[in-house]
Parts: sequence; C-alpha cells; structure tokens
Amino acid sequence: MQVRVVVDQPWDVKADVLAVPIIGQPAYTGPLGELDKRSGGELKSLTSFGELKGKRFKSVLAGSGGSGEIKAGRLLVILAGDADALDRETAVKLGASVERRLAGRKVGSLAIWLSPIAGALEGGAAAAAELVARGVVEGSYDPASIYREGYEEGPPKLDQLVIVAPGEDATALKKAAERGTIIGEGSNTARTLANRSSNDVSPEVLAEEAYSLAKEHGLWIDVIGPEKATQMGMGLFMAVGRGSDNPPRMIVMRSGKAGEKDALGRHLAIVGKGVCFDSGGISIKPSDRMEEMKMDKTGACTVIAAAVTTARLAPGTPLLAIAPAVENMPGPHSTRPGDVVKALNGKWVDITNTDAEGRLILADALTYAERLGATHLVDVATLTGAVSRALGELVAGAFGTPQAWVDEVFAAAARAGERYWQLPLIEEYRADMESWYGDLVNFSRNNEGGLVKSALFISEFVTKPWVHLDIAGTAYFRKVAPFAPRGATGASHATLVELAMAGAKA
Ligand code: BES
Ligand code: MN
Ligand code: ZN
Repeated sequence: MQVRVVVDQPWDVKADVLAVPIIGQPAYTGPLGELDKRSGGELKSLTSFGELKGKRFKSVLAGSGGSGEIKAGRLLVILAGDADALDRETAVKLGASVERRLAGRKVGSLAIWLSPIAGALEGGAAAAAELVARGVVEGSYDPASIYREGYEEGPPKLDQLVIVAPGEDATALKKAAERGTIIGEGSNTARTLANRSSNDVSPEVLAEEAYSLAKEHGLWIDVIGPEKATQMGMGLFMAVGRGSDNPPRMIVMRSGKAGEKDALGRHLAIVGKGVCFDSGGISIKPSDRMEEMKMDKTGACTVIAAAVTTARLAPGTPLLAIAPAVENMPGPHSTRPGDVVKALNGKWVDITNTDAEGRLILADALTYAERLGATHLVDVATLTGAVSRALGELVAGAFGTPQAWVDEVFAAAARAGERYWQLPLIEEYRADMESWYGDLVNFSRNNEGGLVKSALFISEFVTKPWVHLDIAGTAYFRKVAPFAPRGATGASHATLVELAMAGAKA
C-alpha cells in the first residue's frame, strides 16, 4: 500500500472512497458544509433522517452526488465522537473502523479527510496522520485469511491510502503517516503469530519465525535450546518446557551492540511470555475455553514484533528482546505440583501449581536479560485471568518499580494511544508466597489478591527498574468490534515501540 498526502480540498481528491469523520453534532458550515452542498445535500439529509447518530465509529456509506462536484466515488461518513474525547486511541480506532467498514467492497484507493481529526487531536495533523494511517493498516488485518487461501470477504487490500490535509505540510505528514504504517504492520505481525494455532506454531516454529524476521531486519539473534538452558541453570524455564514433546526455546534478539546504552542511557530489555499452548500442565485447566490458550504466546509475539518495528524505524537503536517459548503440557516428563526447582538467579521455587507457569518462564528470562546487561526491564504477558476480570479487554494491568520507570512506560503508552491501569505491589502479601521447602511458591493457597501476587512473584527475579504488563484481557477479543476482528489485537506492541524509540540515537 502506497501512502500519499495531498493538500487539496476533500471534494477535489480522486479516490474510490472518501472517508469523512464527523466530530460531535455536525453544523455543516465551512468545508463540511461545502462537502454537503456538493453531495447534493446528502450528508445533511442523512443527519436529519436519523442515520448519522449513535455510537462512536458508526458509519454510513453514501454516494457522492453523481454531479461530479465530488471527485471521490463514494463517501464513508463516520462518527468520531465529541471533540474533547478525541484522543490518540480514538484516532487509531477511527482509521481501523474506516478500513474494516469497507470489508468485501472493491476499494483500491481510500482517501481520509484528516482535518476534522487534526483539529480536535492534541498534536494536530502530524499526530493524526500517523495514528489514522496506523489504524488503517491495523484495520486491514484479517485472521480469517491466515489459513484459508483466496478468502475475499475481509477488509480491502488498498493500493493507495490518501491522507487529505488542506493547508498542512505534506512532507511532514507523509513521514508521520509512514511511521504509523510501519507500527501498524508490526502490530499485525504480532497478531498473526499470536493467532496461529498451537499445531502450527510450536516453540521451535516461533524461534524460526523470529530468526527469519531477525535476518530480514538486521537484528542479532540467539536461540537457546533445552540442553543449553538446562546447563545454564534455567530451571524454571525448563520446569515448564520439559512436559512437552515440542522442546522449549529461549529466543534472544537484539539491535545495537551487546550492553550498548541508548540515547537515554538505558539498555532496555523487553521480555514476553511465549506459552505456545497452556493446558495448565499437571494442574490441568478445565476444557471450557481452553482453546484460547493458543494465545498464551502473545507476549512473546509482541516483543519479537516490537524489536522488528524499532529496527525498521530506527536501525541500530539499542534494544534487547527476550521471548521464552514453551508449551505447558501434562505428561510423563512434566513438572509435578510440589516439585522444588532452582531458578537461574539461584532461588528455589516450590511449584505448587503448574498452571501458574508464565511467571516461571518470565523469571528466568528476566534474570537472563539482566545478565546480558539490561538496565531497564519491561515484561509483557497474558499472565492472569484475574486481570481480564478486573479491567476487561480495553485496559491492561501494570505493576512496577521504581515509580519513575512506571511513569516512563505510561508516557510511552500515552504516545501509543494504549491504556493501562497501575496496580500496587502490596509487600505484605509476600508472606503468602513463602514456602516450607524453597524460597517461595509460585502459587499461594490463599489466592485472594492473586493478581498482585503474580507480580510479586516476578519481582523476586529482578533487581533493576522493571514494569510488568498483564495483557491477558487486552491480547485478544472474543467478539468483533468496529475497529477489530476477533482474536489477537496487537495490544502493547505500540507501547513497547514508543518506549524503545525514546532511546533512538538521532
Ligand atoms: N495463561 C493463563 C492466564 C490467562 C487466563 C490468560 C485466561 C488469558 C485468559 C495463566 O497461565 C494462568 O493459567 N493463570 C492462572 C493463574 C493461577 C493458577 C494462579 C489463572 O489466571 O487462573
Ligand atoms: Mn497457566
Ligand atoms: Zn499461561
């Protein structure tokens, strides 16, 4: 898809479809009034007919009048909500909703009139161009075509996206829109990896995918198999990985040199949970919704894609990405509840529940990240059902220390247009994680505050500034939204990219 920015008036832009965002209650004055006039009053009449009301992202496809006074073939009028609610997240979702609305239609060129968004969004036209373009790319994502060839019902494959921004700096907006496109493509890469099923993507296959992405984008990569991991002392990683016939892989990717500091003096490490299937292991899960546990590798897919995106946007930016990939299965070689296992950092863990496996593989991966020189850590994981019960599918949970580092991650999230809610590390609850046999248990018999305890467990394995993002709620949708299909959402990819990009060297 080619991205063009034009500074013409919207009615002068040739395209199959021109998207017209409506902010608040439209007054039909100024350019919107002109567009309405040239449409033969179609827009105004849609409003008075009652067609143009309802929820944000509701949209109507209309003709463009037929008089030739509008050069686009059709209009797609879309509600963008009130001006004061138009934030960065909305701008992305608006772009995605436009593209998704055109599913099954023949559209080669899509023009989007940027001015209404640019006028309401903090950051103006450049921010709007980036986020809307990213949204269009994310909106083109369709999991229905991963396995089926020739599937045509999905959002159209555009030849051209035309950003229509009269009076703006076309060169600057084009750069911004291209940045958005690359971030959107990275998000989609993460989504396909996450959506692919467990019979397709084993830890080994995930490592192979990471390997080819690394080679394509100039990243250094090292993949550690079970023999080496055992010999290195990654006891927790192996405790989870040993139960499956599909052997585990510790995937380590890097841009920049080993231990190299970025422009902010950090060696940032992003670590993602890569459980290619989580059956629960010997502490086996109930069968209801167990199929969703193919998505338990989403954190890993997210960090792999974020490393690639960062390398595309700013090659050489120091960044370490670690993805411990395992399959959590029951079998004769599986870890048993009550097994006591030595972690890479030397602590003895009493594995009281094999279904609390994410924290185990993250623990060794975070220790390893610090050994490789990480000074700042972020892990991202589909860690607990509790976080999705608490915050649902639109807001991810966050923990961390010190607060200054949490604040930096939250600032990156704001730039990315993604939402998190910080939860407390309640130190007193550590007492519940004590073990008779080892240094701590991975699961407390008293599972009240289990969400907090999951983060407290991980905190025992980090010594540097660290943030934990629990994306079990945001990682995938169970039902379609105007802006996204079912399945993997790509959530947190943009946050990690913004965080890494803050350290890009000029
Ligand atoms: N992968 C699951 C968490 C999960 C649940 C993600 C639902 C997405 C949807 C995780 O490994 C898990 O099993 N967590 C347990 C932890 C418990 C055993 C302490 C949970 O949340 O029930
Ligand atoms: Mn589990
Ligand atoms: Zn899991």
